[in-house]
Amino acid sequence: MARLVVVANRLPVSVIKRKDGLRVSSSPGGLASGLSACFRPESDRWVGWPGIAAERLSMAERESLEGRLRRRGHCPVFLSQEEVERYYLGFSNRTLWPLAHYFPQYAVYDRSLWEAYRRVNQRFAETVVEVVEPGDTIWVHDYQLMLLPGMLRQRLGTDATIGFFLHIPFPSFEVFRTLPWRREMVEGLMGADLVGFHTYDDALHFLESVRRLTGASDNVGRITWEGRVVTVDAFPMGIDVDRYAGASQLPEVEEQLRRVRQQLGATRVVLSVDRLDYSKGIPQRLEAFELFLERHPQYRERVTMVMVAVPSRTEVPAYQALKREVDERISRINGRYGTLGWMPIRYLYRSLPFAALAALYHVADVALVTPLRDGMNLVCKEFVASKRDGRGVLILSEMAGAAKQLPEALLVNPHNVEQMAAALDEALSMSEDDQRARNRLMQQRLRQYDVDWWATTFLRRLEEARGVQRALA
Ligand code: UDP
Ligand code: G6P
Repeated sequence: MARLVVVANRLPVSVIKRKDGLRVSSSPGGLASGLSACFRPESDRWVGWPGIAAERLSMAERESLEGRLRRRGHCPVFLSQEEVERYYLGFSNRTLWPLAHYFPQYAVYDRSLWEAYRRVNQRFAETVVEVVEPGDTIWVHDYQLMLLPGMLRQRLGTDATIGFFLHIPFPSFEVFRTLPWRREMVEGLMGADLVGFHTYDDALHFLESVRRLTGASDNVGRITWEGRVVTVDAFPMGIDVDRYAGASQLPEVEEQLRRVRQQLGATRVVLSVDRLDYSKGIPQRLEAFELFLERHPQYRERVTMVMVAVPSRTEVPAYQALKREVDERISRINGRYGTLGWMPIRYLYRSLPFAALAALYHVADVALVTPLRDGMNLVCKEFVASKRDGRGVLILSEMAGAAKQLPEALLVNPHNVEQMAAALDEALSMSEDDQRARNRLMQQRLRQYDVDWWATTFLRRLEEARGVQRALA
């Protein structure tokens, strides 16, 4: 297999500066956790940002960090504070992210942010050009780097093998068209040989934008563009099923399980896990839980919601407002229904390491995964994979990419609070036979379409796309 050069905004590890020195931890989010499972550090390379502004590192720190990262196959792109503000917090997370998740009211259109985005994509291109060797496969990821395929094509020519995968939704044209730089974005992606999405809906939205903005139409997912062929297709990302199915046997998870059981007592557990992001539908989920407690008093003191909210993009105003709203709602519900011996919601505002998360997946009776929009959502897959004995119910938003693959879950409209409250009741009273039958089907599918399937299928399609290209030359 050709050497892989993965390019993503973040490296799989992010650096935090503490009083006692630099600390390296796993990067947040599904892109990092999924891709890490198929990255081979001995041979592959991963180009990305180490998660800290360059000004925060002394020269010596930067050199030693670079050495440490390079030994793991990581090639850092150091961004200045200004680049972090304008490219990452700015254009990526205040323009593209809200648009893609159908929150146009949060999207800012600011030329200086756009220019920074272009400049940083150019800086990534320079690092890739330094790292890449003839015969390598370049695989660019996600919305932070949508101009990169075009920039790399310009610098490396038609012979380079370039794939692109978008981990978030591609919105319908009616939303995408509001972006002042929409044509540049679409043309940037068309520098790739293969453009991949999680779902067919996303692929169709992209093809429509291409047609409406450039006039180029596709022939069964193939677009002829500037003398090349660009292939577009859907590849739903999977997970490493055995890692979750086998977790409860690990001593560190057993230890966590003992602690969780002791701390939660005998109540049944409804689990909620996401980055604290407005796309995840957290306030609506809390409202549904509150309505559930109101309508079904028999569950009070018998059911606890464990809510893990991972801090995310905390410098962006919409995330700060969401944090305030979530904090307030939780304290209101706990104040209203809590007793001396029972707190309806146990709230953890931090990222949990694998063992603690695996223990929660294991003990939870229900996972309530209700994003308003989500490219895929791996948390729901991890929960189902963890249920070795087949018990446990997934309540899943129909707006998550994963819903297409998991129709046996209780599918809900995340804006419909009444429906979610009723689904909680249904989940908590579902027979074990029904739970097992549903989970068995979902687990089979998760095994068939796991993360290895995702990466190998994408890379094989990329090779095929190159074949079409060569035949054309
Ligand atoms: N995750 C984690 N610790 C936590 C919460 C979440 O490691 O405390 C991981 C989780 O296992 C999953 C990823 O973060 O792999 C979240 O991915 P998902 O696709 O669900 O959402 P995203 O954050 O990418 O929008
Ligand atoms: C989502 C995005 C990723 C991103 C992750 C975490 O999964 O698709 O590109 O890395 O969220 O967000 P952050 O802004 O912390 O990188």
